[in-house]
Amino acid sequence: MVEPVSVAAGAVLTIVVVAVHYSSGTGWEPSEDISQNVIEKRAATVPETDFPEPYNRSIGGGGSAAAIPAGEEGAELEEGAEEADDGFDPDEIADDEVEYYEIEFAKEGETIEVANNETILDAGEDEGWDMPYACRQGQCVSCAGQITDGAASDYIRHSQNESLFDDDMEEGYCLTCVAYPTDEFTIETGEQP
Ligand code: FES
Repeated sequence: MVEPVSVAAGAVLTIVVVAVHYSSGTGWEPSEDISQNVIEKRAATVPETDFPEPYNRSIGGGGSAAAIPAGEEGAELEEGAEEADDGFDPDEIADDEVEYYEIEFAKEGETIEVANNETILDAGEDEGWDMPYACRQGQCVSCAGQITDGAASDYIRHSQNESLFDDDMEEGYCLTCVAYPTDEFTIETGEQP
């Protein structure tokens, strides 16, 4: 049996729902999105640096494959140097074309033979030396060392270099994780530009 009280309650509830549905609201309008303004104002408080973005030279930073190295005034690597570094593939050296060079590791106090299809970093690690590194992909400078005989490009080839500028290499700096010898030289490991 239907109770009058329940019917009345149902009717009242229906009226309330319909009234709410057709009500015009409070007139409240969402305020303008100011998040971009806030971000820009905060960015304006950060001092300018010499490093254009994206850029990462921190140890272990890794960076991205798209990282653009910055030089003086933010210049990119010179075209020729970039092509030379990126064009070398050690896997293309045939077994009968492998050559060995005497590399003196000054800090370690030893001279070892390193093949032209082996990185300076790998060769040093094979000796049991604790060599610095992070990304092992030429994207940071954690593994950098300085060739003391002259410009790095006269003694090594990089298979990949996304961190060093031409000026750095002119001073003998190389990325040992991606540096393959093309001549004999002396290197100071753990030296960054
Ligand atoms: S370990 Fe990062 S460039 Fe060599």
